[in-house]
Amino acid sequence: MCGIVGYVGVRPCLPVLVAGLRRLEYRGYDSAGVALVDPNSALQTAKKAGKLQVLVDELEANPLQDAVTGIAHTRWATHGPPNDINAHPHLADDGKLALIHNGIIENDRELAAELEKEGIRCVSDTDTEVAAHLVAKAYRETGDLTEALRQTVLRLRGAFTLLVTHQDHPGLVVGARRNSPLVVGLGEGENFLASDVAAFVEHTRTALSIGQDQVVTITPEGVTVTTFDGTPVEPETFTVDWDASAAEKGGWGSFMAKEISEQPEAVANTLRGRLTEDGTVTLPELDVLRERDIRRVVFVACGTAAYAAMIGAYALEKFAKIPASVELSHEFRYREPLVDSHTLVVSVSQSGETMDTLMAVRHAAENGAATVAICNTQGATIPRESDATIYTHAGPEVAVASTKAFTAQVVACYLLALYLAAEAADSSVKERVEISTALLAAPDQMSEMLGVGERIAEMAKWMADTHSVLYLGRHVGFPVALEGALKLKELAYIHAEGFAAGELKHGPIALIEPGQIVFVVVPSPRDPASLHAKVVSNIQEIRARGARVIAIAERGDAAVLPFADEVIAVPPAHPFVEPLLAVIPLHLFGMELAMAKGLDVDQPRNLAKSVTVE
Ligand code: AGP
Repeated sequence: MCGIVGYVGVRPCLPVLVAGLRRLEYRGYDSAGVALVDPNSALQTAKKAGKLQVLVDELEANPLQDAVTGIAHTRWATHGPPNDINAHPHLADDGKLALIHNGIIENDRELAAELEKEGIRCVSDTDTEVAAHLVAKAYRETGDLTEALRQTVLRLRGAFTLLVTHQDHPGLVVGARRNSPLVVGLGEGENFLASDVAAFVEHTRTALSIGQDQVVTITPEGVTVTTFDGTPVEPETFTVDWDASAAEKGGWGSFMAKEISEQPEAVANTLRGRLTEDGTVTLPELDVLRERDIRRVVFVACGTAAYAAMIGAYALEKFAKIPASVELSHEFRYREPLVDSHTLVVSVSQSGETMDTLMAVRHAAENGAATVAICNTQGATIPRESDATIYTHAGPEVAVASTKAFTAQVVACYLLALYLAAEAADSSVKERVEISTALLAAPDQMSEMLGVGERIAEMAKWMADTHSVLYLGRHVGFPVALEGALKLKELAYIHAEGFAAGELKHGPIALIEPGQIVFVVVPSPRDPASLHAKVVSNIQEIRARGARVIAIAERGDAAVLPFADEVIAVPPAHPFVEPLLAVIPLHLFGMELAMAKGLDVDQPRNLAKSVTVE
């Protein structure tokens, strides 16, 4: 999704803007641009299709004059192909006004038709340019840039974060947001606007969240916020709990490699201060739920987050004895779900900006449900619109494909389950102590699992030309299989599919032919539900048909050895800890196969880190 940065202050702003865009590259984009305003020059712009380096090269070849006010943008094309004309910023008012946008303006065509009747024609294919002309028109009538943007946003439908600057107003940037992210960075004699705190965290870790339907005006001296109807607002200040170095690669070859390696720490940090071995959960932010009689939990999420939620649903039913289900966010509200005041809707979202999930949360709240967010991004929109939030403390996840957020989300779901279990009369204290003790030991076991990296890299080399990989799992291993398949799809662009192992004989086994690679997540042989024996039978069935089986199984599991071509051993662990261990070789495999194919593991094609459009 698009990246947005704005700056007002005393420093030459171009380096600040470009560095901010670099920190937002992970959001996925296909063009970039800047606009600078300075008392000593006309408004200056540069914008280019392609990666940020193309713009940087352009700026080196045709330098702009220094300026202390500016806005910058990386565009992920929605309306119109990625080219120089469609890149942001878009200009109006005889080139004196520049505007950038993240989101989709749904009524752009009718507004464009209205402008055309007044002789104002758009030169680009974008929805954004319409907003630029509307703001310019309102500015000519009011002479006030904030008022002009405020009047304009009242006419827009859809999702938008807009920033606007004008040649007549150096030292001023105005922003507005609906359904797309916008945060303010508060500096000394300088202030920032951005889609994400990563853009300015090296300059300041003090930030403000801009709420739904709000307009923000920044100058070097201060920040003012109003609602779209002009009512003043006092936004909450928060402190970013990580520093710029955390958003750097730290010596790793890729953010993907770095973030896979950070999974033990992400889990440890998410548990820290919240869980003790006796099963006591400290999550005061959830105390609002005590006023509710929760009888059902529905998770809403997309992609990897949905797979974490699937594991969470097992834990809710196992430990808290509460019926739990998982809905893909984009399906949830369209199936007219039965939701009431006894329903707890739990959103799982790394970015906290996924539009599908945000809309699902809104639908749930409108129908009386309690809402809890599990999120990795402070001040994001979904937490702001939820009754309570369990923040995962995984640190910034920059690589587009999610890894450490997944394991942190699983653990956050477990914390929720244990919190609710403490309130449940028929919950087993013994079970809660067992899982709590096991979870607190999990980070060390996850660190041990990272040691399989070299072996996985070797395997990936001989599989580099494969065209299909299947993943099987059962119970909490089934979402792990789905997650492993998704990683291979999004990182190595290889068709991969995850199945519940029990489903194999109901059709998918027809896919098995000699040489078909199949990863199998094998439950512990100590598992009382005898799922282990059933999965070993599944391995025998596919091996008999020529599959190449890579089993992820508990160390010492002798039953698997005769039927697997490769065995990746995991340390003996609680059944609900196994997903945290088994997923690591699958994350590593997706990355290593992509690297073997020479692909960009941090910014895979077609993908965006946060899908802020429906
Ligand atoms: C994960 O690797 C994918 N990039 C994608 O499935 C992601 O998990 C999904 O878009 C949800 O994003 P969120 O967690 O930010 O809501």
